[in-house]
Amino acid sequence: MSEFSELFNLSGKNAIVTGGANGIGKATAIMLAKAGANIVIADFKLEDAEKTASEISALGVKAIAVSCNVLKDEDLVNLVETTLKELGGIEILINNAGGGGGGRENPFKISVEDFKRDFDLNVFSAWRLCQLCVPHMKKSGYGSIVITTSMASINKSKNMSGYAASKASVNHMAANLAHDFGPEVRINAVGPGATRTAALETVLTPEIEAKMLSHTPIKRLGTAEDIAGAILYFASPVSEWVSGQTLFVNGGGEQTLD
Ligand SMILES: NC(=O)c1ccc[n+]([C@@H]2O[C@H](COP(=O)([O-])OP(=O)(O)OC[C@H]3O[C@@H](n4cnc5c(N)ncnc54)[C@H](O)[C@@H]3O)[C@@H](O)[C@H]2O)c1
Repeated sequence: MSEFSELFNLSGKNAIVTGGANGIGKATAIMLAKAGANIVIADFKLEDAEKTASEISALGVKAIAVSCNVLKDEDLVNLVETTLKELGGIEILINNAGGGGGGRENPFKISVEDFKRDFDLNVFSAWRLCQLCVPHMKKSGYGSIVITTSMASINKSKNMSGYAASKASVNHMAANLAHDFGPEVRINAVGPGATRTAALETVLTPEIEAKMLSHTPIKRLGTAEDIAGAILYFASPVSEWVSGQTLFVNGGGEQTLD
């Protein structure tokens, strides 16, 4: 185990954060930067990504914004090439862009395309970016990948089957890929409970929030920084013997929409 001062030190390491312009991704990018990492914000909202990257540059590390829709293979290839060209290597990958669910997945109304999209967005894009990044991590001798999963991966609710199943796939995919990627590269998943971001605000009502809190021992919803702290743990040397795990960050409870 490293010296205490090195446990959370990411100086000189380069980190890609997908969906890094806003929400959990933005909070994570800022926290990794405060630990010393250079940051690539990969997001399809380029203007937001550029704004976040310039906030991060002000912290004294390198930060760039790359326009990237993780559903497009050419964007993923370009993201990795741009990162290598601009920063010279990749040590940390935060596969955070994702979505779906929100109680909008009635099996008799959801289209086949939307159901498949959950898997393309939450599972396939993360797998493909791992495939593209891991050889470079192995070359550098340090690699940590974190995928943002969800409490939905273990909850059982109505109208969530596509999102929930895709996030459950993420947990088991990470557990299996840990065997493919070791020893140089670790991969873990962080599963947020209800976390105050733009995505949550589209479905939250005061009644739903009150019900969520009745099942939550720490009596508030999550913040993006709560989730970023867990991601920082997995990205850092402090967790050097931890791989293939899913950590739920949820105030100790369970927050569902129904
Ligand atoms: N907020 C919650 O309560 C919650 C709970 C469980 C899991 N999650 C997961 O956390 C992750 C982040 O969610 P959030 O709440 O921060 O969302 P958010 O909407 O606040 O931010 C998501 C960011 O990702 C970007 N993005 C979305 N789709 C993209 C794509 N195809 N390609 C590139 N960028 C894309 C958006 O532009 C945005 O900047 C997601 O994987 C989500 O499933 C969130």
